[in-house]
Amino acid sequence: MSMQGKVVVITGSNIGIGLETAVGVAAQGATTVLACRNAEKAAAAATEVKGRAGTDDVHVVSLDLADLESVRDAAADIHSRWDRLDVLVNNAGGTWSERQLTRQGFEQTFGVNHLGPFLLTKLLLERIVASAPARIINLSSVGHHMAWRGMRFEHLQSEKRYAAMEAYGRSKLANILFSRELSKRVAASGVTVNAVHPGPVRTGFGMDGDLKGIMGWGNKMIRPFEISAASGARTSIHLATSPDVEGKTAMYWVRSKPGHMSTHAHNDEQATRLWEESEKLLASVGFAAP
Ligand SMILES: NC(=O)c1ccc[n+]([C@@H]2O[C@H](COP(=O)([O-])OP(=O)(O)OC[C@H]3O[C@@H](n4cnc5c(N)ncnc54)[C@H](OP(=O)(O)O)[C@@H]3O)[C@@H](O)[C@H]2O)c1
Repeated sequence: MSMQGKVVVITGSNIGIGLETAVGVAAQGATTVLACRNAEKAAAAATEVKGRAGTDDVHVVSLDLADLESVRDAAADIHSRWDRLDVLVNNAGGTWSERQLTRQGFEQTFGVNHLGPFLLTKLLLERIVASAPARIINLSSVGHHMAWRGMRFEHLQSEKRYAAMEAYGRSKLANILFSRELSKRVAASGVTVNAVHPGPVRTGFGMDGDLKGIMGWGNKMIRPFEISAASGARTSIHLATSPDVEGKTAMYWVRSKPGHMSTHAHNDEQATRLWEESEKLLASVGFAAP
């Protein structure tokens, strides 16, 4: 589809897969919005995207997914600056060796990878629906298979024991379950919701001291075998721009094709429960969203 006149918001787009996704959609003519937590890095990324895509229609919104107040402000900023939103790419994410908390006290992997994007999407949903046909793309991972015990709702905050890989796996399973539940809720509106595994991609992921010990070592060892960020962004760009995926929803994509999801990722009951639990958690800290 032509991206002229379309507004695309990409979270965590100052680097890595998000940055390359921004270059890809901007080059096709979209108004491209980089939603990032660090103003300096975001400004540098905007300059890079403008130069590489050959357009000035690239903008920055401040967004820290570890702070729900920042999520609310970012949604308000987007509402006030653009009267449509055709594509939302929930790309930002991370993995942390040690248990840390978001500003509102949620375990950070769950908070940044799921709860923040959940709130952001809800706050932008009316605008997305009004812009239909529109698309929501959630960056998941093959790592969702590591959540072999499912969402473990009694253990969402990893309070008793924190296992980084399991927490990451569950947050990436949450990205698929969220896509599944949301796609049902907006089915009649012409909005599609899909999840993506970008591949093993050589980015800054886990490289800035967030992963320690054996996990940090393993992350470094696999780097020579990983694909470039530009290749890793291809599936996101395909889902954001291609007419071939028009109307396709509630799917999990790998290399721009349907991929293999875990049994838990097919579980509608877990998807509905995750939605309800997420709403309760947000309401418990004063961030109930429509
Ligand atoms: N790389 C892979 O092999 C791989 C594989 C499967 C899935 N994925 C998924 O792909 C997505 C992008 O990852 P990547 O590889 O491109 O990683 P990356 O290079 O580390 O980029 C991650 C982005 O997320 C942002 N971010 C982190 N915490 C944030 C917060 N609290 N608020 C707002 N933004 C935040 C980062 O901002 P800063 O620059 O400010 O830290 C950065 O822009 C992630 O969702 C990841 O789970 C990656």
